[in-house]
Amino acid sequence: MLIAGNWKMFKGSHEARQFATAIRHLPERARGVDVVVCPAFTALEATLAGLGEQSAIRVFAQNVHWELEGAFTGEVSAPMLLELGVKGAIVGHSERRQLFGETDATVRLRAEAALEAGLAVIACVGETEAEREAGEMQHVLERQIAPFPQHERLVVAYEPVWAIGTGRTATPEMAQEAHALIKSLHDAPVLYGGSVKPENAASLLAQPDIDGALVGGASLDGTAFEAICLAASQARA
Ligand code: PGA
Repeated sequence: MLIAGNWKMFKGSHEARQFATAIRHLPERARGVDVVVCPAFTALEATLAGLGEQSAIRVFAQNVHWELEGAFTGEVSAPMLLELGVKGAIVGHSERRQLFGETDATVRLRAEAALEAGLAVIACVGETEAEREAGEMQHVLERQIAPFPQHERLVVAYEPVWAIGTGRTATPEMAQEAHALIKSLHDAPVLYGGSVKPENAASLLAQPDIDGALVGGASLDGTAFEAICLAASQARA
């Protein structure tokens, strides 16, 4: 089970460091759960410092560029992340796709370069409400997943766009159906994301093809994040 907290554009370095220190022992309580946090670029170093050397929590970035260096204003490369002690990166989050022009082609470049450099990757897919209503879910997921490399350090996150930050969660049955489809297309663990909270985590994580969660809003609160990690620990106990 993998539980990843996506902090999005929340928590500056001061708050991130304090929060990291507060949760650093969480994996010792949530047995069998691989815990990841994804701070903003500016808070990566402070998060690592707050966790300290001993914590089993891994730190991932929220994005990564495909070139090692170059004239790419506003981007950050895999070697830059590795130098800090960052272990992975999210690629293709729906907010990147919808708001910042990310495409299947650029997601592929980012994922391949990150894996090649030695980072782990959480590669995100998910249909919009309009796509689901038009009966295009399968087609959209196939198109988004096709570019993902097959790699032991790649994990897929299924995040239906209509469930992100909206409080609307896919039912466990809807999520299970999508996860089973994704696993038939790509051999990788699949996380569920979209309004995961302490109240719905156990039922989602009980589904056979849900291997963890990518948690946005609820990961910003230590108590809620811990409750989700504990639910994950119990789900496969
Ligand atoms: P949410 O975000 O949990 O706030 O819906 C999930 C995500 O976007 O990764």
